Amino acid sequence: IKRVTTHTLQELKSRGEKISALTAYDYSMARVVDAAGVEVILVGDSASNVMAGHETTLPITLDQMIYHAGSVVRAVKRALVVVDLPFGSYQGNSSEALRSAIRIMKESGAHAVKMEGGQEIRESVVRVLSAGVPVMGHLGLTPQSIYKFGTYAVRAKEDAEAQKLISDALLLQEIGCFGIVLEKIPATLTKQVSEQLQIPTIGIGAGPDADGQILVIHDMLGINKEFKPRFLRRYADLHTVMLEAIAHYVDDVKTNDFPNESEAY
Ligand code: KIV
Ligand code: NA
Repeated sequence: IKRVTTHTLQELKSRGEKISALTAYDYSMARVVDAAGVEVILVGDSASNVMAGHETTLPITLDQMIYHAGSVVRAVKRALVVVDLPFGSYQGNSSEALRSAIRIMKESGAHAVKMEGGQEIRESVVRVLSAGVPVMGHLGLTPQSIYKFGTYAVRAKEDAEAQKLISDALLLQEIGCFGIVLEKIPATLTKQVSEQLQIPTIGIGAGPDADGQILVIHDMLGINKEFKPRFLRRYADLHTVMLEAIAHYVDDVKTNDFPNESEAY
């Protein structure tokens, strides 16, 4: 199998083929995601919500991200594995950013890191890139800044914020990022940014004109039932599948149906 690299993603954009990306946080799920042909697997700090049950992405630690990332890396044969630098591990201190990125690369075997923000984290991005670690940007609704935004509503609807997003995207490209996640921004802005940039954009809630799309795996498989934003398409109802299977098992145990003779030694 030919591995996906940051160069592969650039080629896909150049020839107009869309990039598919999904999150994964553990070995078993990552094996399925990789086998299905997804090009980019993000070990997102959404693990804080989906794996640990926190309300925001802020509490997850660098050690916890490394644990998830190592589990995913051991499963993946083809996809590019990108890992989120968690809140507090890179902002405002480029030495700490470099230390954090190096720990992720060394201890998990991942292929790249992702950081939220533009101009504000310029020094950290430059420093990490200078060590040879590929960096993906993330603009728009950046969940590590949720307490600054105060809401999970669509970002960059106003011209000033849209202009800042465009200049941040150009900055991230100029300093050497290999791609940028655009989260929950107007589709027209995504189109504009994606056309202006040479590097690929990966959208979530950002409309059809990003160079690729990403979703949180538990959301798109319908394991989460409560989270249903407009941008989320559900490809399965695993909540129902799992609930019914488990209820069936409980019933079989109670009624002495399981295990039967052929399931015993
Ligand atoms: O943490 C995450 O899952 C993400 C994606 C939704 C882009 O950052
Ligand atoms: Na994230």
